[in-house]
Amino acid sequence: MNKAEIIFQTEQFVQQELKEEPSGHDWWHIYRVTKMAKKIAKQENANMFICEMAALLHDIADEKLNVIEATGIAKVRNWLLELKVDEVSKTKIIEIISTMSFKGGGQPPMKTLEGQIVQDADRLDAMGAIGIARTFVYSGSKGQIIYDPTIKSREYMTKEEYRDGMTTAINHFYEKLLKLKGIMNTNYAKKLAERKHLFMEDYLETFLSEWDGE
Ligand code: ADP
Ligand code: NI
Repeated sequence: MNKAEIIFQTEQFVQQELKEEPSGHDWWHIYRVTKMAKKIAKQENANMFICEMAALLHDIADEKLNVIEATGIAKVRNWLLELKVDEVSKTKIIEIISTMSFKGGGQPPMKTLEGQIVQDADRLDAMGAIGIARTFVYSGSKGQIIYDPTIKSREYMTKEEYRDGMTTAINHFYEKLLKLKGIMNTNYAKKLAERKHLFMEDYLETFLSEWDGE
């Protein structure tokens, strides 16, 4: 199978797996991340095939979609085996996906440029207008409310409060989304993140002023 066919088959596979995913990790998230990863890969002269495959498969192993992460990684490994993807590419793709879905106390840094690119593309999709939409969909799917001024952001909670407590969609901006701009890997993503960051700040300012009846 040539590379174009491998990519086409993988698109079909991921569409099938994620088409009804209700928490913002649906096929169109994958579509956007893949498109962005390719765009960054071009700027950075990275390996396009690795970036595209890792982006397409990056959420198949996510802990939110699998009871255990190892099942998800095995699913990806079997898929690459079935398509007879060469050893070197297979190892690189699996390494990227394992690092991305790693949740045990902070993500380890990405080893390869291709990994850094896919991670940037995924993080960019959590920012800006789309990031705002995904946050509310994710929140709704977990039963979180939009906002409650009496609920502190998680970063100000004690360990016990963090474990038991709910957060809100608006708090998630302060807990994660506004920090993404500072942790982009590539220069191209840093530039795109600037604009998305400003849009989110603007959105929050308007949201909070409407909250107080202005
Ligand atoms: P991905 O794996 O695609 O990088 P995540 O699984 O971390 O992204 O999150 C998916 C989307 O849901 C993101 O837009 C993220 O901001 C949002 N999200 C994740 N956790 C929360 C949360 N606790 N409250 C609200 N939104 C969240
Ligand atoms: Ni993702």
